[in-house]
Amino acid sequence: MNNLFFRGRKNLRVFLFACLPLAVAAEKNSFDPPVMGWSSWNTYRININEELIKRQADAMVERGLKAAGYRYVNVDDGFFGGRDGSGRLHTHPERFPNGLKVVADYIHSRGLKAGIYSDAGSNTCGSIWDGDPNGIDVGLYGHEAQDADLFFNEWGFDFIKIDYCGAGQELALEERKRYTEIRRAVDSVCPRKIALNICRWAFPGTWAKGLADSWRISRDITPSWESVKHIVGKNLYLSAYAGGGHYNDMDMLEIGRGLKPEEEEVHFGLWCIMSSPLLIGCDLTTVPEASLTLLKNEELIALNQDPLGLQAYVAWHEGEGYALVKDIERKRGKMRAVALYNPSDTLCRFSVPLSCLELEGRTGVRDLIRRRTEKSIRDTLSCVLPPHSVRIFRLEAEKRLEGPGRYEAEWAYLPCFNDLGKPKNVAYAPDGRASGGMIVRYLGGTPENYAEWSEVYSETGGDYEMTVRYVPGKYRKLIVEVNGEATPLRTLETDASAGIASVTLPVRLKAGYNTVRLSSPYCWAPDIDCFTLEKR
Ligand code: GLA
Repeated sequence: MNNLFFRGRKNLRVFLFACLPLAVAAEKNSFDPPVMGWSSWNTYRININEELIKRQADAMVERGLKAAGYRYVNVDDGFFGGRDGSGRLHTHPERFPNGLKVVADYIHSRGLKAGIYSDAGSNTCGSIWDGDPNGIDVGLYGHEAQDADLFFNEWGFDFIKIDYCGAGQELALEERKRYTEIRRAVDSVCPRKIALNICRWAFPGTWAKGLADSWRISRDITPSWESVKHIVGKNLYLSAYAGGGHYNDMDMLEIGRGLKPEEEEVHFGLWCIMSSPLLIGCDLTTVPEASLTLLKNEELIALNQDPLGLQAYVAWHEGEGYALVKDIERKRGKMRAVALYNPSDTLCRFSVPLSCLELEGRTGVRDLIRRRTEKSIRDTLSCVLPPHSVRIFRLEAEKRLEGPGRYEAEWAYLPCFNDLGKPKNVAYAPDGRASGGMIVRYLGGTPENYAEWSEVYSETGGDYEMTVRYVPGKYRKLIVEVNGEATPLRTLETDASAGIASVTLPVRLKAGYNTVRLSSPYCWAPDIDCFTLEKR
């Protein structure tokens, strides 16, 4: 008996030791992190050439950027040299006299990956905005498989960014259909996985995740504070669409191109915590030392390349300040990454309750920009931030709370959402009366136009009281679904002057993740502020 007991204990010990590394190691995923590299557009526009691209590849290695994780050297617009009678694409005779295979080969010889550019229509953006005559008739339209074969099989490129100037402004093609045709053509000719970026300058729609690794969410970046702030603003409420190896692309970096030091920290820090692709846009041979140090900050890069692949979301917003948060390394662990962001032109005081970040107890604080460990905190994360600045922290708490208690509408996944500017399309919109200052409007009308929160967590499951907060309006209906079980709400406030109204219902959650859906298949739903959950 004793022997058995000891043998059992020993076996248990061996078993535990064998499992321990697995248990403490970060979660591993099969998908790729956001791409990291350099792209020619921001500094050179269409004025690129073979030597220039090769020297940037050299600098990426020599300046330690390859060692920091940067991999891609991307040739943007400007390499085109027309098509011949068979439709075959040629490179620019002066800029790339030896073609692009030698360029891709050179990039590969430095242990890097190579990216290329095209347009979904006939003409490139450079032909329109930079008056480049070589950009006419060189886009993918009508040449999808032929160009894909050339780019990926013959020349050996690994990544493509696909613009929309010719397709949108000139041919008025429909985005989803057009990018689907292109993805199919690429996959049909190239057996390798090619990373694809959709460049439609606005969140194009949830379909993009099925076709692309990343998609632009804004117009082109410029090296100005206004531009950085604008793009961050565009991405604050898009975290539901990133994940599983697919990312919102905040555009190429303008670090090293004249922004103030604290603005560069906002730019790089938020691109990292929001898991945007990191494509450096400055001249790597002359990048200022301070900018280079920031670009190589491995603790910030780790947030960007984190194995969970998540984008931070706005967990707290008061006055001008935002606190963004995301899980890192392990889902629902005690460690989280947090950004405090002050986009305003004045000082901003932050006093963020740890409960908003789903943390509790003594909490260790690491400042990832300054790369130093700060005094640990309890209850509240407090700080005063100068204008146009950010602090990025890694917090490690004693306890992870069951959930936020309140689920904001602006965190919801909206299957019908896009940012293409179509009237009455479901959208996240500011509303000063709502918690977090945001609502979701134009919800409902069709069965597909719902709002969904798929990670409503309950430790043990059980009975909860759910309160939905909404903006009253006439002829609105709302169905609450929890794990597929629907409850139509019978009495909704209709008086719009009543301010935010609420309705409470009992719901049952299972242990672990639950899915909550708000919908109204045949008429508008009221605009949604949030819902709360309280255990009964
Ligand atoms: C568009 C894109 C830019 C760049 C240029 C090239 O403006 O958004 O990133 O690729 O085209 O012409």
